[in-house]
Amino acid sequence: MSNIARHVAIIMDGNGRWATERGLKRVKGHERGAETVRTVTTFASNHPEIEVLTLYAFSTENWRRPKMEVDFLMRLLDNYLKNETKTYIKHQIRFETIGDLSRFSSALQRRIAAVKEETKGFKRLTQVLALNYGSQDEIARAAAQLCRSGEAISVETLGRRIESARFGPVDILIRTGGDQRLSNFLLWQSAYAELFFTPTLWPDFDPDELETIIAEFKTRTRRFGGI
Ligand code: FPP
Repeated sequence: MSNIARHVAIIMDGNGRWATERGLKRVKGHERGAETVRTVTTFASNHPEIEVLTLYAFSTENWRRPKMEVDFLMRLLDNYLKNETKTYIKHQIRFETIGDLSRFSSALQRRIAAVKEETKGFKRLTQVLALNYGSQDEIARAAAQLCRSGEAISVETLGRRIESARFGPVDILIRTGGDQRLSNFLLWQSAYAELFFTPTLWPDFDPDELETIIAEFKTRTRRFGGI
């Protein structure tokens, strides 16, 4: 039986370079990147296999960027959620997040909660945005909880406490922008993910390239440690 692309996760890298190459400000790249988020999400919602699309939108390290860029990303996210609620509804997409939202403004937190509430019944696709997300931190927090509980430590008991593990194992992990690293993204759930690295900058990534990746994924042999 061929591999099923149930959970696709993407590290969206290269917005800044896309803009700089065109003599534009970096934030213009993020603006175009948000359009790619929309087209790729809509494609995924119409794909027969994809149930979960997890996108790395803001890492715990991204706060180190200049304040102007961080503020822009916050506004972009807020506008995206406001303007795209209709897209979530039209394509029956459930919106979810992973990561620590407490550092975001209360207005943005309210926006995120409202879109989650409005879309919670949709089942065609779950789009998970990783926001102020870091995988090591999430695993450490789960381990601390497990220690306090006194329960025996196993893959199952720890896995149950990892916030993002509720969306299941990652089948395809893609990083755009040419670098070949995981940058603290979904480390637990990517244990047996098939990895794809593309030089395409995120604003230039499109559903055709995602289809090509899924076609290659289908040809790979996944043994999950067996033979
Ligand atoms: C990486 O490009 C991208 C980010 C840090 C942010 C991702 C944000 C978006 C795709 C747009 C907004 C998202 C939503 C959901 C509305 P980079 O800036 O690190 O690029 P570079 O490596 O070329 O500098």
